Amino acid sequence: MKALEERIKQDGVVLSGDVLKVDQFLNHQMDPDLMFEMGQEFAHLFQNQGITKILTVESSGIAPAIMTGLQMHVPVIFARKQKSLTLTDDLYSSSVYSFTKQTENQITVSQKYINADDKVLIIDDFLANGQAVFGLIDIAKQAGIEVAGVGIVIEKSFQPGADKIKAQGIHLESLARIKSLADGKVTFMDEQ
Ligand code: G4P
Ligand code: NA
Ligand code: NA
Repeated sequence: MKALEERIKQDGVVLSGDVLKVDQFLNHQMDPDLMFEMGQEFAHLFQNQGITKILTVESSGIAPAIMTGLQMHVPVIFARKQKSLTLTDDLYSSSVYSFTKQTENQITVSQKYINADDKVLIIDDFLANGQAVFGLIDIAKQAGIEVAGVGIVIEKSFQPGADKIKAQGIHLESLARIKSLADGKVTFMDEQ
C-alpha cells in the first residue's frame, strides 16, 4: 500500500535491534484516515471468502482490525492479554512468547463469541516472529474454526514470521513489507 509505505518513510523511526517505531501514526498517536484506508485494503484483499469475524490481539491490532470489520460488516474480537474481571466465561487461551520483551503472555478469547461455523480473518499491526499470529491460529484450532487468512499492517520480512505462516499454506497479505532496517534506513521488498 503506497500511502502506508510513504508514511513509514516520512514518520517511521528505526531503532536499534531492527525495531521500527511508528508511534506517530499507528502505535500511539493514530491516523484514522490512514487506518480507514488500511481497512478498505484488507477488505478488498480478503473479499468473497465468507469471512464472518475478524480476530486480533490487544492493543495495537485493534485499530486496523475494527477498520477492517467496518468495511466487511463483521464483528471484531480482540484476544485479551490481561485477565478481565468481568470476563468469567469459558475461555480459549494460548501462550505467546515475545522475543522482543522476553516475556510469556497468555492470550484469551471467550468461547461465547466464537461459533462453530465461523471463518476468521486474523489482523495485526506487526509481524516479526509470528508468535502473536500463531497464538491466534492456535485459538482458532481449539475452537475448530477456519482461518481464512492473515492480514498484517507492517511485515518485517527479514524475520521468520511471514515465511512460517506461508509454509503452513495460510493466505498472508501485508500492506507494507520491509526487507531491511539496516543502517537506520527502511527498505521495502518492492524497492531496489
Ligand atoms: P511476534 O508476535 O511477531 O512474534 O512479535 P514479537 O514477539 O517479536 O514482538 C512483540 C511485540 O512487539 C508485539 O506487540 C509486536 O507487534 C511488536 N513489534 C515487533 N516488531 C516491532 C517493530 O519493529 N516495531 C514495533 N513498533 N513493534 C514491533 P505487542 O507486545 O503485542 O504490543 P501491542 O500490540 O500491545 O502494541
Ligand atoms: Na501487536
Ligand atoms: Na505492538
